[in-house]
Amino acid sequence: MKRVAILISGGGSNMIALARSMQGDHPARPVLVLSNDPSAKGLERAAAMGIPVAAVDHRPFKGDRAAFEAALVQQLDAAVPDVICLAGFMRILTAGFTGRYARRMLNIHPSLLPKYPGLHTHQRALDAGDAEAGCTVHEVTSVLDDGPILGQARVPVLPGDDADSLAARVLVQEHALYPAVLRRYVSGDRTPVLL
Ligand code: GRF
Repeated sequence: MKRVAILISGGGSNMIALARSMQGDHPARPVLVLSNDPSAKGLERAAAMGIPVAAVDHRPFKGDRAAFEAALVQQLDAAVPDVICLAGFMRILTAGFTGRYARRMLNIHPSLLPKYPGLHTHQRALDAGDAEAGCTVHEVTSVLDDGPILGQARVPVLPGDDADSLAARVLVQEHALYPAVLRRYVSGDRTPVLL
């Protein structure tokens, strides 16, 4: 049975979708939900699902990324994960950290990468007049929102859409895409999932 750790910063809706998918004949189980914000709602939700939780508050480290990440690594290595999923984790990770978990760490990003790495992806798609938007699951490298693409889901941009309505439509797809990619990935199958 593969062991999966999930890193979150907020509500954790993607974490919940991943955790709910890892049941029955699924080849993996969640062993830790870890947040950089001790008050993240997702920690409560994970604990209510019976998943071990932990938090490493990034604020006391005052920008000392190496020290913050060393504390993350301590929590992660204690859980001995095979795979790490970044799910709405909003801290930028150094090459040292991404290198330590190379080829076993995934991230979900709310755009059709390589379009719109970074923030405000939905507003940027609207400002560009795109006909479609979506989300991407990729393997994490030292380059932000880059790395081999393991899955993408597309949604139409509809007349009258604003960033919130588009984000809500994309989020539904995120909850379908991330579990589908994870299931393949923990089985060693890197064939992209296209929804
Ligand atoms: C998601 O849209 C994800 O793609 C982005 O942050 C949002 C987090 O949502 N990185 P949640 O915390 O999983 O609900």
